[in-house]
Amino acid sequence: MLLYSSAMALDRFNRNIHYLRISLTDMCNLRCVYCMPEDMTFRPREEILQDEELLRLVRVFARMGFDKFRLTGGEPTLRENLTALVRGMRDTPGVRELAMTTNGITLKQLARPLKDAGLDRLNISIDTLNPDKFRRLTRWGRIEDVWAGLEASKRAGLPIKINAVIVRGQNDREDAVDLARLTFDHPWQIRYIEVMPMGRVSDFQKSAIVPEDELRATISEALGPMDLLDGGKLDGEARMFRLKNAQGSLGFISAVSKPFCAGCNRARLTADGRLLLCLLRDKEFNLMPHLRNGATDEDLMEMIEDNIWHKPWGHGLAQDIRPTRNMSEIGG
Ligand code: GTP
Ligand code: 5AD
Ligand code: SF4
Repeated sequence: MLLYSSAMALDRFNRNIHYLRISLTDMCNLRCVYCMPEDMTFRPREEILQDEELLRLVRVFARMGFDKFRLTGGEPTLRENLTALVRGMRDTPGVRELAMTTNGITLKQLARPLKDAGLDRLNISIDTLNPDKFRRLTRWGRIEDVWAGLEASKRAGLPIKINAVIVRGQNDREDAVDLARLTFDHPWQIRYIEVMPMGRVSDFQKSAIVPEDELRATISEALGPMDLLDGGKLDGEARMFRLKNAQGSLGFISAVSKPFCAGCNRARLTADGRLLLCLLRDKEFNLMPHLRNGATDEDLMEMIEDNIWHKPWGHGLAQDIRPTRNMSEIGG
């Protein structure tokens, strides 16, 4: 009996790869200390996937069974022609979910147009609610702008998750608690992300990682006990909890201390057209020359399928293997 009518992309470990994270640009309007150096240089425009190339790739991936798409950066809202791109992706057969991960700075203006273009939901990065600390961590950012973006997104009816990368000694105590407190008044999911060592961000030290158990203890000491949700089943890569009487929930993304590679369903496309099958491995496949030199959709599908089949089992952080690219070039 035919159980699946649509295509499915499997790797050699029998993982179903159906979630594509697309970096729309490597540029950003912030310079978060753990993400990129302040003097970062960006790729020239001709090296970046054009709108038609992106839409074609989305069609190709959707034909292969990909149904979840996330737009990332750098900062995706800096991409020209963004709403038209979102609409084009939304109208692609097979696209079940279209989301975005953003720093929120420009959402005051863009939340409504993005919602109208068909975006389903937003993950917004906020590491601290403290204005001075926010500026220090992002080097340039104003928390007021992000907050205005959050309000605009709420008004536009876009479901929201908040991402906080936790760094020991920076935001692992009262800042983490203040973020958790938001869940009493808002239906948001606040996600605490273990900082991962990437690229040229040189001052990374293992001691910067705050293990999930320690962070949960800090939050519970201040705000009371939290219940494990869904019997510990991960929501994507986050283990979920809820504080008593809270509307929202808390998620813990612990790629280093509790790797979730076994359940990985992701592939990534960088702004310069490279296909990555693991965030934390350098192995990549350059689709650009094929796209620009007459490959058919079937040719592209064959190349992509071959790369998916050879997706690495998981990261090598335990062996001190870390990626050369910065996070901003891959989009998380
Ligand atoms: P949801 O669809 O809402 O679950 O979003 P998401 O968690 O997939 O996307 P988001 O961009 O919000 O990612 C949150 C954090 O998880 C980022 O810091 C990512 O780098 C990290 N992350 C996402 N996928 C992976 C992965 O496959 N491996 C590792 N190590 N980290 C990941
Ligand atoms: N480790 C973990 N997460 C990171 N992000 C950026 N750099 C790092 C890092 N070194 C997060 C951002 C954003 C997501 C796309 O990745 O804060 O939420
Ligand atoms: Fe920009 Fe996001 Fe990197 Fe911060 S984490 S510098 S917001 S790309």
